[in-house]
Amino acid sequence: MKTVDFIRMQDGTAEEYAYLDELEDRYKAELPDRILAALAKLEHSLSGYKISRLEHCLQAATRAHRAGESDEMIVAALLHDLGDELATYSHSEMAAAILRPFVSDEIYWVVKHHGIFQMYYYAHHCGGNRNARDQFKDHPYYDAAVRFCHEYDQNCFDPDYDSESLEFFKPIVERVFARPHAFDAEQQARYAA
Ligand SMILES: [Fe+2]
Ligand SMILES: [Fe+2]
Repeated sequence: MKTVDFIRMQDGTAEEYAYLDELEDRYKAELPDRILAALAKLEHSLSGYKISRLEHCLQAATRAHRAGESDEMIVAALLHDLGDELATYSHSEMAAAILRPFVSDEIYWVVKHHGIFQMYYYAHHCGGNRNARDQFKDHPYYDAAVRFCHEYDQNCFDPDYDSESLEFFKPIVERVFARPHAFDAEQQARYAA
């Protein structure tokens, strides 16, 4: 493949950056495929549960789909533990960062904080504070985060649940990741024309 000539960004030409932009656009269009490939790897993630992390994510997304949730919420449920492999100590933030440009502020916030809210269900068994989520009790998205964890996370470890496949969610992932629309201030500055 043709490459640009520069070895320092400061030496690049407008023509070279136009060429790189073209390649980047193609790369962006392949994001849904990369997301699905990353999810597939969760088949071999945390062990000890009755089901794999992939199956947990599929179960969460399937429950969201069957409850009539929006595409954004279904995809949030599908991706919420995507960070387990590489962001082992900050998995909620990683999933939230991936979703940020494609979902509402509320869904972004819920995914970003689901790890703390989820502690309500288990932290008291391992020396933690199950009520750590209380620090957010006046936040406008508190109830949404409680509901997400209750309906699409803590209850999604059932080996007998008939989850849909990753392939089933492909068109929904493609729809949600087709159009970035919700940037934070720093991203807005970067993408402003
Ligand atoms: Fe999680
Ligand atoms: Fe989870």
